Amino acid sequence: MPDIAAVFGSPRRNGNTAGLLKSAVAGAQQAGAEVDEIILRDYKISPCQEIYGCKKNGECAIEDDFQQVRDRILSCKGLMIATPIFFYAVSAQVKILMDRCQSLWVKKYWVEKTPHEKHEAVRKGLVIAVGATKGKKLFDGILLSMKYFFEVLDMEVWDTLLYRGLDLQGDVLKHPEYLDQAHQRGREFAAALKTVRSQTG
Ligand SMILES: Cc1cc2nc3c(=O)[nH]c(=O)nc-3n(C[C@H](O)[C@H](O)[C@H](O)COP(=O)(O)O)c2cc1C
Repeated sequence: MPDIAAVFGSPRRNGNTAGLLKSAVAGAQQAGAEVDEIILRDYKISPCQEIYGCKKNGECAIEDDFQQVRDRILSCKGLMIATPIFFYAVSAQVKILMDRCQSLWVKKYWVEKTPHEKHEAVRKGLVIAVGATKGKKLFDGILLSMKYFFEVLDMEVWDTLLYRGLDLQGDVLKHPEYLDQAHQRGREFAAALKTVRSQTG
């Protein structure tokens, strides 16, 4: 099983978040971690249709690439997820993945009847986000979304790497210090995961 799932959430294959995430992945690999790279734009994942087929056994009733992406994320000790800021929110690709994970929420709280206060963060996540503008509240929306998304995955936010003022493809390359920071945090993330016990999914 890989140690880390790295989710590339931008529609732009070689955009700013992808550059930063690749740097974090390289850092983690240098520290000995095995990384499973998931480029969301390459998968066919429908939005949640709110039909609650998952009420039966926690399994999402829509059969598409979601199931394999979910299983790959759940089997790792850590998740790196990168998203551009789109209208102060995550990208559509990331939002669709989050919404489909409502089936995990249903499984935990409705099917298995886990008490809400029994939330246990057994795994860790690193969030990377990039926006073009410099507003103070630029990341407020996605940080709330990520917090609750991670809860569903039994995960806690280990760190967030948030970068303002990057817009055009390649802008991040003008900031080697950002790429260096992502690399360094990737290394440290891999080290932090050594204490996390293996998951079976
Ligand atoms: C649909 C869309 C919506 C966007 N909304 C915002 C926004 O609300 N705030 C902001 O600062 N940048 C916004 N941007 C700019 C992107 O966040 C920025 O270009 C970022 O660097 C893209 O990252 P990527 O190259 O990894 O895709 C938007 C871009 C697009 C295409």
